[in-house]
Amino acid sequence: MKLLHDSIPCLFHLLLLAELFVPSSSRPVHTSSLCRMFGSMIHQVDKLTDISKNLHELSDNNELLNSADNKLPDLPHMQHSAAHFFNSLKMNESLSELYLLAQAFRLHVDWLKTEKDNFSLPSQSAEDASTHLLQLSNLLNMSLHQMSAETPQPPAPSLPVVSSAFDLLQFSIEISERLKVFCNWSKRVLRSLKLPRCGRQ
Ligand SMILES: *[C@@H]1O[C@H](CO)[C@@H](O)[C@H](O)[C@H]1NC(C)=O
Ligand SMILES: *[C@@H]1O[C@H](CO)[C@@H](O)[C@H](O)[C@H]1NC(C)=O
Ligand SMILES: *[C@@H]1O[C@H](CO)[C@@H](O)[C@H](O)[C@H]1NC(C)=O
Ligand SMILES: *[C@@H]1O[C@H](CO)[C@@H](O)[C@H](O)[C@H]1NC(C)=O
Repeated sequence: MKLLHDSIPCLFHLLLLAELFVPSSSRPVHTSSLCRMFGSMIHQVDKLTDISKNLHELSDNNELLNSADNKLPDLPHMQHSAAHFFNSLKMNESLSELYLLAQAFRLHVDWLKTEKDNFSLPSQSAEDASTHLLQLSNLLNMSLHQMSAETPQPPAPSLPVVSSAFDLLQFSIEISERLKVFCNWSKRVLRSLKLPRCGRQ
């Protein structure tokens, strides 16, 4: 009992200190939980960044890597500068856009895995990418839920018929390239959403 009693003033000081370092007293209670989710989302994006480089299972200097075509009409195409556009949106809107993009990539990567299996090509990287895209989507959904915002329903993408293993390789390259840009870009968006709320952790 004595111990507990002694620790109360100390706790009180800590609370006062905490107040001093919190810029606004009107912060919503769920901030720390959102901050944790931002941390987890950035972690998922880091994992995806690594996997995205290997989706086609080619070495870095393979000439084919320069031949990515635009053959997947519904694969998101982002400009590096798009992060700027996202920063000007409200948090719920940015997260909702990120959710749609992550789901669009997931549907393409799931398709890639099915097709690779069909052609007896290695599909582990596609499966791993799908897992992390799903976890990222779930975290985005949870964050939106916590802000009482709607989670949008992604449309089904139109996906081409794969007629040869070479075709499939080109699709892998295209998805890999676009996924890399998505990762770079969503990491910047997530960081810029996280920073003003959670600080550098
Ligand atoms: C699997 O590949 C064959 C051609 O090798 C194709 O006819 C068939 O439609 C493919 N199946 C799927 C599920 O894509
Ligand atoms: C989003 O999260 C809510 C609450 O956890 C859940 O009920 C819902 O099924 C989730 N939606 C999707 C698409 O994952
Ligand atoms: C985002 O939140 C704002 C209020 O902060 C609201 O006006 C807007 O409709 C919301 N947008 C979405 C897509 O939920
Ligand atoms: C992400 O894109 C920016 C701007 O194009 C570039 O400077 C940066 O090196 C990229 N980062 C990664 C990890 O690819």
